[in-house]
Amino acid sequence: MLDKLETLLGEFEKQLRDCKTQADVLNLKAQFLGKKGLVSEVLGQLKNADATERKTIGAKANAGKSSILESIEAKLNELELSEVNKKLKEQRIDISLRESLFYQGAKHGGPHPITLIQREIEDIFLTMGFEIIDGPHIEDEFHNFEALNIPADHPARDMQDTFWFHHPHTDEVPADGKKRLLRTHTSTIQVRGMSQRKPPFKFIAPGKVFRCERTDASHEMVFHQLEGMMVGKDISVANLIYFMKTLLGEIFKKDVEVRLRPGFFPFVEPGFELDIRCLVCRGSGCSVCKKVGWVELLPCGMVHPNVLRSGNIDPDEFNGFAFGLGLDRLVMMRYGIDDIRHFHGGDLRFISQFQSY
Ligand code: FA5
Repeated sequence: MLDKLETLLGEFEKQLRDCKTQADVLNLKAQFLGKKGLVSEVLGQLKNADATERKTIGAKANAGKSSILESIEAKLNELELSEVNKKLKEQRIDISLRESLFYQGAKHGGPHPITLIQREIEDIFLTMGFEIIDGPHIEDEFHNFEALNIPADHPARDMQDTFWFHHPHTDEVPADGKKRLLRTHTSTIQVRGMSQRKPPFKFIAPGKVFRCERTDASHEMVFHQLEGMMVGKDISVANLIYFMKTLLGEIFKKDVEVRLRPGFFPFVEPGFELDIRCLVCRGSGCSVCKKVGWVELLPCGMVHPNVLRSGNIDPDEFNGFAFGLGLDRLVMMRYGIDDIRHFHGGDLRFISQFQSY
């Protein structure tokens, strides 16, 4: 019986060496150590042996079992290691992959044309000493209207169709008495900017604005403006025109025809509309310029004294100018885009034309 056991252990070691996978090893373990396995079978015959033989064989069988378990453990570890090494070799992480696809012209995301122009304008104004500031999309009527010299019931509130927030059930006015809305223009940031700084200062504030309007070739419900404000002593319309001309010269890199005409906005006095000769039709008339040859681009003016007061600035000591550039229309003029709705139409063929790397 002892010989039988030794042969069995030898046989096990031999078969273990031939195992190629962890599954093979586990099968072998079951074959030798399982309830009906070969070792158990030998041990089952112990009852027929005499007492001394039983003792020797019992000890040998237990030692054999332990050695089988150790060999199995070692083999499993060895196979696991070689599996990992094999994977590392075959499935090497190629950290240059993205880069190589990139150069082969694979599809990838990139900044939106409006973002690209916004960044360009930000750089232009930064070099002229302007700060860049931000404000919330969800505003209250104070910042969107009242502080900008547009009191409740003023007809100018109808100039911009507003998305109001209503309480879902009661339509109640919030506890602070100020109804909430999606800002209709970036002029809201004039008020926030003024109240956080002391003159002299100058800043720009780009961002999305929202109006409940019918869309057409030059109107969107969600579009982008870039507000600008400069407050100090003895600021004049000449300063305003200087900055506007510098901006347009840098953006278009060529002489563009502009015209300044009186414009009414309650928050500026005097107010102007700066129009640009339509670059889509070169002035002959198209759907973008509504057949007039000019596109409204840059309303501006000298800040109204009441607005300075809302920002805690004394209008007898300081004055300033403000402007509200229509970013989408500027991008349309720069690239000759004939419909504002292309910007958010989701057509990758359109969008990918502007990605520069
Ligand atoms: C205003 O929003 C004023 N807050 C601008 C301003 C700022 C005036 C500071 C004076 C001083 P207006 O509603 O005209 O003004 O809009 C400004 C610009 O946004 C327009 O000239 C136009 O270029 C753009 N714009 C207006 N409505 C739309 C629209 N629905 N879709 C795309 N662009 C629009």
